[in-house]
Amino acid sequence: MAATPVMTPLQSVTGSSSRTAAEANPSESVIEIWGGEPLSGHIPVSGAKNSALVVLGGTLLCSETCRVRNIPDLMDIGRMAEVLLALGLKVNRAGNMLDVDASHVSHSKAPYDIVSKLRASFFVIGPLLARLGVARVPLPGGCAIGARPVELHIRGLQALGAQVHMDHGVVHAYVPGTRGKLKGAKIYLDYPSVGATETLMMAATLAEGETVIENAAQEPEVVDLANFCIAMGAKIRGAGSNTITITGVPSLHATDYSIIPDRIEAGTYLVAGALTRSEITVGPVDPNHLTPLLAKLRETGSKVELEENMNIRISPGEKIAPADVQTLPYPGFPTDMQAQFMALLTLADGNSIVTETVFENRLQHVAEFNRMGADIKLKGDCAVVRGVSHLSGAPVTGSDLRASAALAIAGLAAKGKTTLYGLQHLDRGYERFEEKLLNVGAKLRRIPLSEVDSAAQPTIGAEN
Ligand code: UD1
Repeated sequence: MAATPVMTPLQSVTGSSSRTAAEANPSESVIEIWGGEPLSGHIPVSGAKNSALVVLGGTLLCSETCRVRNIPDLMDIGRMAEVLLALGLKVNRAGNMLDVDASHVSHSKAPYDIVSKLRASFFVIGPLLARLGVARVPLPGGCAIGARPVELHIRGLQALGAQVHMDHGVVHAYVPGTRGKLKGAKIYLDYPSVGATETLMMAATLAEGETVIENAAQEPEVVDLANFCIAMGAKIRGAGSNTITITGVPSLHATDYSIIPDRIEAGTYLVAGALTRSEITVGPVDPNHLTPLLAKLRETGSKVELEENMNIRISPGEKIAPADVQTLPYPGFPTDMQAQFMALLTLADGNSIVTETVFENRLQHVAEFNRMGADIKLKGDCAVVRGVSHLSGAPVTGSDLRASAALAIAGLAAKGKTTLYGLQHLDRGYERFEEKLLNVGAKLRRIPLSEVDSAAQPTIGAEN
């Protein structure tokens, strides 16, 4: 029989207890990377950050204790757990497993200081409203990659019968009438927003009657959330297609659920393998979640093989060929892989065009790649990438989570030393980043800013 895990109650969880001082203050530290080392071996993939965040929000729907496994140990997860604590829930952690007891939700207002740092925590508005009939959640605000409005979430909640108004930057939503129950409705989303689909799917699970979300997001994380809700007794059909139908039920029950592997983390390491011309395996990950990336890796010359146990092997071809890439909602090429793939294209044997269509300001890494010797020209939402023979290590700053990861993997392929600033972004989304890369032969280390010989670089705030 498996040993009973030791659960630790969470009081404040924005950092893991096992982190070193440099990791605990990511904006006060940098990663130094000595490029040119080939990688070899296996990189393990953690649970999907974006699934875990929304599934934790979804635990609010159930008045019993849910166990969620394969939760990555990340700063963003700590912040989401803090939102749950602030709403009165009990959260216990043992390693990558969280028990969330939502039997008493004592507050309907999410705290501004956390929602402003973690956009995904706004998504608690759906389950709060469904469960309590009232929710007050601060507007998450803009971020480095774009304005990121939430009007699709709000219009959908209104279609479900909520009254919504804004007061001093806080969204107040309530369900009129004594029963406080949302009512099923037909909702068409102007854009297949991941967050809006998740907010509305969660809200509809406890609504009266049937809800149909049309032009819904089809991302694997939406399917993961649907499967979690179904495991709690929700009636949801069609998640993963563009039409999701939810038949409301009076209540949900406890469950034990495991989060899917993180396709973006896996994709980042696969691109690291391609960039450094290495043979590595990455997994576990569902290759179906990576279809557009694997197609583009093959187009650029890498050999990609699917192995048993959900592992993917990547090995180098003769050269890195250029490729054009356009980001799109799933199953299109993911915007969360755009920066990392651009890193690969900087070393291609020819010219590539990268077009960002999902976010309006998500090409800030271009200037940083150029500091490393890349040749990239920006024209609106397009980047024209002329392949160069090599990159040179340089001090660089990540402007958001994926840009930071992209600069780090560019550093693995660059000649000389790269010093990466902006780790507060990297640590939001990559569990044990340095350790995983060290284990496959990369040369890198995290040090406090005070130990860096050059002057500190300014960092830019971001959320995604
Ligand atoms: C999620 C992911 C993020 C990923 C993004 C797109 C999480 C926690 N984050 O973010 O990593 O980059 O999907 O795959 O899951 N929009 C509106 N109005 C709205 C909502 C969205 O105009 O009410 C716009 C956004 O500004 C953006 C586009 O729709 O331009 C896509 O956003 P959305 O799919 O909602 O992304 P998130 O759910 O915030």
